[in-house]
Amino acid sequence: MLAANLLTLALAPAALAFPLFKRSANSSNFLDTPQVNSSEIANNFTISTNATQTVSLIQPASTSTGDISVGSGGKFGSIFKPKVFIVNMFTREETTWITNENLTVNITVPMLSPLYPHVHSNENFTVMSFTTGEGEINAASSITALLMSPLFDFSETYFIVSGIAGGSPNLTTIGSVTFPKYAVQVGLAYEIDSREIPSDWPYGYVNFGTNRTNMPPSTIYGSEIFELNENLRNRAMWLASNVSLSNGTVGNVAFRDRYNSSLAAYQPPKIVACDTATSDVYWSGNNIAKVVEDFFAVISNNTATYCSTQQEDNATLEAIMRAAQFGIADYNRVVIQRGISDFDRAPPGLNATEFFFDANQGGSRAAVNNLYTVGSVLVNDIIENWDSLYQVNHFQPGNYIGDYFETLGGDKNFKK
Ligand SMILES: *[C@@H]1O[C@H](CO)[C@@H](O)[C@H](O)[C@H]1NC(C)=O
Ligand SMILES: *[C@@H]1O[C@H](CO)[C@@H](O)[C@H](O)[C@H]1NC(C)=O
Ligand SMILES: *[C@@H]1O[C@H](CO)[C@@H](O)[C@H](O)[C@H]1NC(C)=O
Ligand SMILES: *[C@@H]1O[C@H](CO)[C@@H](O)[C@H](O)[C@H]1NC(C)=O
Ligand SMILES: *[C@@H]1O[C@H](CO)[C@@H](O)[C@H](O)[C@H]1NC(C)=O
Ligand SMILES: *[C@@H]1O[C@H](CO)[C@@H](O)[C@H](O)[C@H]1NC(C)=O
Ligand SMILES: *[C@@H]1O[C@H](CO)[C@@H](O)[C@H](O)[C@H]1NC(C)=O
Ligand SMILES: *[C@@H]1O[C@H](CO)[C@@H](O)[C@H](O)[C@H]1NC(C)=O
Ligand SMILES: *[C@@H]1O[C@H](CO)[C@@H](O)[C@H](O)[C@H]1NC(C)=O
Ligand SMILES: *[C@@H]1O[C@H](CO)[C@@H](O)[C@H](O)[C@H]1NC(C)=O
Ligand SMILES: *[C@@H]1O[C@H](CO)[C@@H](O)[C@H](O)[C@H]1NC(C)=O
Ligand SMILES: *[C@@H]1O[C@H](CO)[C@@H](O)[C@H](O)[C@H]1NC(C)=O
Repeated sequence: MLAANLLTLALAPAALAFPLFKRSANSSNFLDTPQVNSSEIANNFTISTNATQTVSLIQPASTSTGDISVGSGGKFGSIFKPKVFIVNMFTREETTWITNENLTVNITVPMLSPLYPHVHSNENFTVMSFTTGEGEINAASSITALLMSPLFDFSETYFIVSGIAGGSPNLTTIGSVTFPKYAVQVGLAYEIDSREIPSDWPYGYVNFGTNRTNMPPSTIYGSEIFELNENLRNRAMWLASNVSLSNGTVGNVAFRDRYNSSLAAYQPPKIVACDTATSDVYWSGNNIAKVVEDFFAVISNNTATYCSTQQEDNATLEAIMRAAQFGIADYNRVVIQRGISDFDRAPPGLNATEFFFDANQGGSRAAVNNLYTVGSVLVNDIIENWDSLYQVNHFQPGNYIGDYFETLGGDKNFKK
């Protein structure tokens, strides 16, 4: 356990009672006209960083004090302007980050997950993390609450979504760290139980607006596919390429050996550029893997390559993208890294249920450790090269970024 203290939110009632958002060029219909003097808020704001020490932020919120970052951009009156923000999904993922990055200051933020009510910060407020809770509803709700909190200016923040995932043996193994360009929500479909489907259907999933399997959907909700900044992803992968990944336990090594030697599953863990699937359903097995692989092909016109499966990323991206529309966050500054903790389908010799319920893959420690090893290099790179590279948008995207609807502008290079 960490000797972390709760932030004293002396300003919370005032901050929440008033609209504190700054009018920006592309949010003319957004909240404006500050009703509270921002320097007064900052002057009154005190933080206990540990049991004996009290830090007072005495600078007006509209100025920056070097490494102690004080908000001035996206939101009027904001207090914290983190450079890096780690997004975890559950306890096992967050602990490594909080411990190793010394994120000892807890900041209570209204409407985060009841299980994870705090943002965790280092003592100079440059690096922070929080935990969304698991599944799409928790991810979307928590990220939205975070982004809308008047305490933070996220307009220049780099977000690193860091979590464990199931992996395809075709491209990954236990302990691999994957960096997607695309996140695809695979739950948006009709489903008919496979015991009641026509004999020539491979599975019971049918895309919206169609009447047989594996047709391009004609009804789109908008969150089916998100594309991320490839140049930033490539920087993260380049940094990661110098890192030595943990092979995990003897059991992890033995489990890899059960897969066909032609597959990535059989090899030691690697850094892989490949794409991620979001679904609340924690699925397993060859048949649903086929559903997912088919959907990736059809929704991305064969540009996205499925390799990892998790329960949150599209929800997280949807919330960040909506914030980006109003200058509250920068969608160019999002990296997803997913560490493989288990396989999405069985090796030869095990059927689906004995694989899923009985076989002990035990890879979450290797995944969590490798996520931190790899991700901390990116965090350091962002902090060390903030002025020269990261603040000035050196890694501008060269590819389309955003959702299916082209909400942030540009032309998606994937079509239905
Ligand atoms: C601060 O956060 C850590 C990590 O979630 C938690 O273990 C600790 O109990 C929190 N401290 C307080 C005072 O809430
Ligand atoms: C927001 O405004 C900036 C500066 O005026 C502009 O460069 C950018 O394209 C706008 N973004 C959107 C999504 O309209
Ligand atoms: C700040 O503190 C002063 C007294 O020190 C008080 O008069 C004022 O109302 C406080 N402002 C806010 C926004 O809490
Ligand atoms: C609290 O911070 C002060 C100043 O940095 C330090 O001297 C003290 O040891 C810290 N106390 C604890 C319990 O960490
Ligand atoms: C801020 O904290 C980070 C991590 O603890 C550290 O690397 C950096 O040097 C600190 N900066 C200052 C000015 O203390
Ligand atoms: C965290 O604190 C420990 C002990 O003070 C220090 O050795 C380590 O470098 C710190 N880590 C970071 C990322 O600041
Ligand atoms: C994954 O590997 C299996 C077994 O080699 C193969 O049947 C399947 O087609 C592969 N999937 C993709 C998308 O390449
Ligand atoms: C599916 O829809 C097509 C037209 O889009 C129609 O020709 C076909 O009969 C339908 N099939 C079934 C099984 O309803
Ligand atoms: C999920 O996010 C990915 C990008 O990370 C995106 O390509 C995909 O369309 C999203 N899917 C849904 C259903 O939101
Ligand atoms: C991981 O295992 C491979 C053999 O599978 C070995 O070559 C490599 O040195 C191991 N790496 C570490 C860090 O143990
Ligand atoms: C899977 O294997 C287990 C253990 O051998 C067995 O009890 C079960 O019936 C098998 N399931 C199927 C669908 O064959
Ligand atoms: C799909 O991609 C191919 C190129 O690989 C392109 O020729 C085709 O027009 C695309 N389809 C759509 C519907 O955009």
